Amino acid sequence: MSLSPPPPREFPVPQGVPTSVTLHELALLQRFASEAGTVLEIGTHYGFSCIGMALAGAAVTSVDPHFEGPADAPDTWEPFLLNVTRHGLPLAGLRQAGLVHAFAAGVGVVEPYRDISENIDQYQHAGEGARLWGMVFIDGNHVWPCPWRDAEIAMAHLAEGGRIAFHDVTPNWPGVYRAALQLEAKGWREQGRAGTLRVYRQP
Ligand SMILES: C[S@@+](CC[C@H](N)C(=O)[O-])C[C@H]1O[C@@H](n2cnc3c(N)ncnc32)[C@H](O)[C@@H]1O
Repeated sequence: MSLSPPPPREFPVPQGVPTSVTLHELALLQRFASEAGTVLEIGTHYGFSCIGMALAGAAVTSVDPHFEGPADAPDTWEPFLLNVTRHGLPLAGLRQAGLVHAFAAGVGVVEPYRDISENIDQYQHAGEGARLWGMVFIDGNHVWPCPWRDAEIAMAHLAEGGRIAFHDVTPNWPGVYRAALQLEAKGWREQGRAGTLRVYRQP
């Protein structure tokens, strides 16, 4: 069996963080995250993609209820936060919103929330209307209609020219596959792919 060679390393790779995201997928995600500057991640688990994108210099807002760890330790919130700080990344929150901007210029920062994606509209800057991100990465609840609901949230919170990335776009995950096809049917054009990762740009 021949394995494809590992991708050239443009950005650091998170170490010791369980994930199903491959190094090829991470490399592509990091490239787009670096370009986007700000990323909303829906579905973080132990933080591999989130930390990876922050290590590529992005300010990543993470939303995950953190209830999908193993049966004997289902809550992934504390391990996720430890993973973030272990990689030397600063944590930001609404009370330190200034930090997001301070670190956004190429250093990377993680702004974690343990709410489900439906609550994203609460993350608004006072008086500034809906908060916008340069990219939304969707890797949350994979069961239809959740992936499409997350796509709708993404479309409502993208800055001009922003991108939506989906992980697990494969017939093995019919809900995600269907949401990606539906996005394409609305005119979103694929801009990059690696493994089951697809990155789309606004029509
Ligand atoms: C496949 S894992 C994410 C993997 C992660 N991106 C990585 O790099 O390893 C899916 C995550 O989605 C989370 N999740 C489930 N429903 C969600 C929702 N409605 N909003 C946000 N996250 C959700 C789960 O708690 C779980 O941690």
